[in-house]
Amino acid sequence: MTRVAGKVALVTGGASGIGRGCAQTLAAEGARVIVADRDLERGAEVAAQLGAPHSFAHLDVTDEEGWQRVMASIEKLDVLVNSAGIAVWGSIEELTLEQWRLQHAVNADGTFLGCRAAVGAMKHTGGGSIINLSSVAGLIGVADAAAYCSSKGAVRLLTKSVALHAAKERYNIRCNSVHPSFIDTPMVQHFIDTAPDSGKARMFFERASPMKRLGEVDDVAKLVLFLASDESKFITGAELVVDGGLTAL
Ligand SMILES: NC(=O)c1ccc[n+]([C@@H]2O[C@H](COP(=O)([O-])OP(=O)(O)OC[C@H]3O[C@@H](n4cnc5c(N)ncnc54)[C@H](O)[C@@H]3O)[C@@H](O)[C@H]2O)c1
Repeated sequence: MTRVAGKVALVTGGASGIGRGCAQTLAAEGARVIVADRDLERGAEVAAQLGAPHSFAHLDVTDEEGWQRVMASIEKLDVLVNSAGIAVWGSIEELTLEQWRLQHAVNADGTFLGCRAAVGAMKHTGGGSIINLSSVAGLIGVADAAAYCSSKGAVRLLTKSVALHAAKERYNIRCNSVHPSFIDTPMVQHFIDTAPDSGKARMFFERASPMKRLGEVDDVAKLVLFLASDESKFITGAELVVDGGLTAL
């Protein structure tokens, strides 16, 4: 249980779903984890469950000053997992400009601010690993998710730019994107619960991948753990799918 021993890891969106799973897995493998989320109650609860030396940081990832405050409060950063995200559903004909901007503020601006803060810190402490949660929707189109696809496509290419910059500057900072298909988290459960026919909606999500099931949070967390660890030390600028074969179709 020491694959990331001695590392300090900040996980945004750590109060729920994939972020929560990543926080738990990284902590179990020896990292000191800072659970960051705008949800104070649930974020603090996740950190309390992990116990010392893990902690909670109240952070809205769209808040530039909030990032500065959080970064100033930690002595070093080895791993950043940018998992905070929202999914605004809607086709190009349905979305308002306000919805488009909200979607990009959290998923794209939030990831940009996180990457910038992490590079600024990691370059002074010998390097690190940045892991950005994109989606299969950052690789292939989804008709009913125009803004979500756009925001996750932005995360995919931002990741490659960060990786190339860090390599060029010899910072020893790696940056990779992770692309899950439908994973069993509160985000997906919300879509199931609010669908006109919840049973049908769950079946749709399950049947979407060739493996005919929803992904588990652990499926993603184990990939994130690998990217956070030194086992992946020559992997940067990569896009890794965890999708039960969906994008192989
Ligand atoms: N669940 C899936 O099927 C799936 C698939 C592909 C990609 N993803 C991506 O994985 C990431 C995690 O998704 P999830 O399913 O765990 O979602 P989730 O809704 O369970 O958790 C998201 C967390 O992000 C936090 N958050 C939202 N906006 C924030 C903000 N502005 N500042 C700080 N925290 C904020 C929420 O409070 C919540 O704790 C997201 O980026 C999502 O787009 C999820």
